[in-house]
Order: sequence, then structure tokens, then C-alpha cells
Amino acid sequence: MSSYDVIIIGSGPGGYVCAIRCAQLGLKTACVEGRETLGGTCLNIGCIPSKALLHATEMLHEAQANFGKMGLMGDAPSVDWSKMQSYKDGTIEQNTKGIEYLFKKNKVDWIKGWGSIPEPGKVKVGDEIHEAKNIVIATGSVPASIPGVEIDEERVVSSTGALSLDEVPGKMVVIGAGVIGLEMGSVYARLGAEVTVVEYLDTITPTMDGEVQKQFQKLLSKQGMEFVLGAAVQGVETSGEGCRVTYKKGDEEATVEADIVLVSTGRKPFTDGLGLSDLGVETTDKGQVRTDAHWATNLEGIYAIGDAITGPMLAHKAEDEGMAVAEVLAGKAGHVNYGVIPSVIYTHPEVASVGRTEAELKDEGVPYKAGKFSFMGNGRAKANFAADGFVKILAHKETDRILGAHIIGPMAGDLIHEICVAMEFGAAAEDLALTCHAHPTYSEAVREAALACGDGAIHS
Ligand code: NAI
Repeated sequence: MSSYDVIIIGSGPGGYVCAIRCAQLGLKTACVEGRETLGGTCLNIGCIPSKALLHATEMLHEAQANFGKMGLMGDAPSVDWSKMQSYKDGTIEQNTKGIEYLFKKNKVDWIKGWGSIPEPGKVKVGDEIHEAKNIVIATGSVPASIPGVEIDEERVVSSTGALSLDEVPGKMVVIGAGVIGLEMGSVYARLGAEVTVVEYLDTITPTMDGEVQKQFQKLLSKQGMEFVLGAAVQGVETSGEGCRVTYKKGDEEATVEADIVLVSTGRKPFTDGLGLSDLGVETTDKGQVRTDAHWATNLEGIYAIGDAITGPMLAHKAEDEGMAVAEVLAGKAGHVNYGVIPSVIYTHPEVASVGRTEAELKDEGVPYKAGKFSFMGNGRAKANFAADGFVKILAHKETDRILGAHIIGPMAGDLIHEICVAMEFGAAAEDLALTCHAHPTYSEAVREAALACGDGAIHS
């Protein structure tokens, strides 16, 4: 039996970051992981592999759509799917090995196997019991399906199966126009599949800013994706080679055929096998582990973070909670500002947002002004065939304090962070507007949107 200050169960972005920070703060730390490699969903079957496929197919699109315009002549490259898969797998390996290296460097023990908590202060892995003053549950989430749809990871796939299809399908139906559906749908649309997205609500990406939703849908449609909105999928039948997706739109029932169906209707917390109900750890009606403001469960010495608890299921939210709970365990003041957690969709163009939407501010009765700037007025974006989209900054009408920002356009996922930092410092839109931005950069569009909150943008 070995004994630790902290044992973290799960090595995704929440768990591994928590483990490294605990060790850096002087705590004797172990991390339990049952997968062959560290990094959890994000590194193995989520963020990282999907970004590799998004990058490769974006390069393909660039070659097909824009190379000729720049005088780069010749045939656009053809797709070697198995080589693209190897590139993706190599990217996963580099990243997961990187975490292994960081564990060794920081003296975090990797306890290999699936863990359970037989009683507070103890973690069981295989036949071994390990002692821990504190335990952090960082076990993440798994895809959630809908009634009538059974995921077999062959023809009816979750994001996991969608990353490793045997071949590029001729026709793909995506159920759910959320982040996964649109990212993976884009990948296969760029590779030549006919992609139809069936979404229950009347808009894509339901929680996003309304103007972004509209432009985003327009741009994805231009790229060849089809949308059936306001349509509730009733079931998927697989027979012979194909699949039939049945959905209900109003009173009408319709079907659409596909070679592959991607089910991207959300994820649910993964806490199976931990023994939480026997232990008496409280959970919510959605199966999330219930925690207080410092990530403590109702049992002393047991904490939880990331997708297993409430809040957005985002790797960086889990990382922040991982670092903060490590600080709490080391006797420091861990804190996460949930009001400034950016969210990014890595399509082309990218979509990013932070803080409040206009709809939320209206609901809350907060007086605000919106400064908007189109990438059409940005010289760099025009030169790079990337002028679709805009930056919108929302600031308090009287105080000018930045309350939110919504970007659709080139590098939106990077541009958003300037605004996150500004928000963390309680900045006014004028603070961004008065900050010199290098020319020519996409980030000038952020400054122009900030200027538009005041006396006006220069280039619009
Ligand atoms: P999601 O919650 O983003 O979207 C699910 C969509 O499915 C919703 O629009 C919903 O209205 C729709 N839907 C539900 N039932 C339906 C039905 N019967 N018929 C038609 N449509 C239906 O879920 P998604 O895309 O599966 O992602 C899961 C989680 O993973 C999210 O929390 C997401 O934030 C996270 N994620 C984040 C990424 C990023 O930050 N770039 C990348 C991938 C995942």
C-alpha cells in the first residue's frame, strides 16, 4: 500500500493539470488512469485528434479554393485517408507522451488501471489499495445518445468513431448542430461527403450570439453543409449498407439516408465504477457530482472537477478547476472566474465567444452598447481570403466595461483571449481601443470593434 497527499482519478486536462500543480505545490501526488495513454478524452479521442483533422482538411480547402488565386498553380492535392489518419495518430502520440514526460519531471506517479473509492481516504486500483489524504475525481464525460438511436461506433458513431472512420463516407447525417457536429461535419464536408445536419432547435449552436449563429450557418451552407432545423430525430435504422434517420419537423415525419450517422447530441458525466452511490457522494439529477464553491463534495477529502461536475464541458474549464483545487489542497486560495471562460468552435472560419450574449443582457435588463467590426475592413484578412465574419464587443452603456465578445472570423479562437484578459482586469472598451495594435494583423479588428463602442471604428 502506498500513501499520498492527493490521488487524482482521471488524467484528462482537468486531472493531469491538477496532478502537476499539486506536485509543484509540494504535495505527494498520484494520478490514476485506466487508458493505455494519459490525456483523457481531449488528447486521445477529442480536442487534439479533431484539431489535426480540421487542420489537414482546412489546408486541403485552402489549396482547392485559394491557391490558384495567389498564383500557386497545379492540381490541388488528393486525399490519402490512411496517411491523414496516421498524421492524426502521431499528433495524439506526441501529446500523450508529453504528459507522461511532465508526470516524470514533476514526480507524479501514474497508477495504471481503473480506480474506485471504497471509502474516503482510499483508492482501489486492481487489487491494490492506495491511501490518500485527498481524492480528486476528474473522470470526465462520455457521449450521450438520444432515445431510438444506438451508437455502434461503426455506422452510427459518436465523436470517437467519427475520428477513425474506415473511409470518407459518401453521405453523412449529423444529429445535433452543436460544437462536435459542426466541427466533425466540416471535416467530412471538406473531404467531399454530403453532410446533412439535423438539429432539434431552430438555430445552430443554440447558446451562441444570434448574429454569429446566422452568419455561421450561412458560411457553413456555402461550404456545402445542409441544415434541417427545428427537427427532432426520432430514430436511426441500420439495414444492409446504409442508415435511415427519421425526424419529425412540426407534424411531418421525414427520413434522410446516410452511410454514416454522427450522433452529437451532448455528453454526460462519466463516474461509472467509482462506487459513488455506495459511498454516499451526492450527485445532481443530471448525474454530475455535486460540489461546493471549492470543488468539495459532501464527503470530507473528496473533491471533483471538470466534465464530471456542473458547468460547460470544456477542457480549459477543467484545467482551471484542476489548478484551483490543487491550490485549495495546498492551503492556498484557488479561484475560477466562471464569467470569463472562452468558448471556441474550430471550424473555418473559427467562432469564439466570452461573457454575455446580447440576448442574456436584454433578459437581465443590463443597459449595453455593441461595437461591431467586419473583417471586410481588415487589410490582412482581405489579403488572406479570410474577410468573412466580424468582431462584436458588448460593453456596459454607462461604464463602458466589457461584458462580452463574439467573434466569427480568422483566428477567432486566438483573438478572443485579448478580450478575456481585458475582462479579467475589468477593462472598458476604451482601454482596448486606446491600445496600439500592430498593423497589419487580424487583431486590429478587435481594436476597431472596441472603437465602435465609442466614437466609431476607423475602417468601416
Ligand atoms: P452540444 O450540447 O454542443 O450540442 C448538441 C445539439 O444536439 C444541441 O444543439 C441540441 O439541440 C441537439 N439535439 C439534441 N437532441 C436532438 C434530437 N433528438 N434531434 C436533433 N437534435 C438534437 O453537444 P456536442 O456537440 O455533442 O458536444 C458535447 C460537449 O463537448 C459540449 O459541451 C461541447 O462544448 C464539448 N466540446 C467542445 C469542443 C470545443 O470547445 N471546441 C469540441 C468538442 C466538444
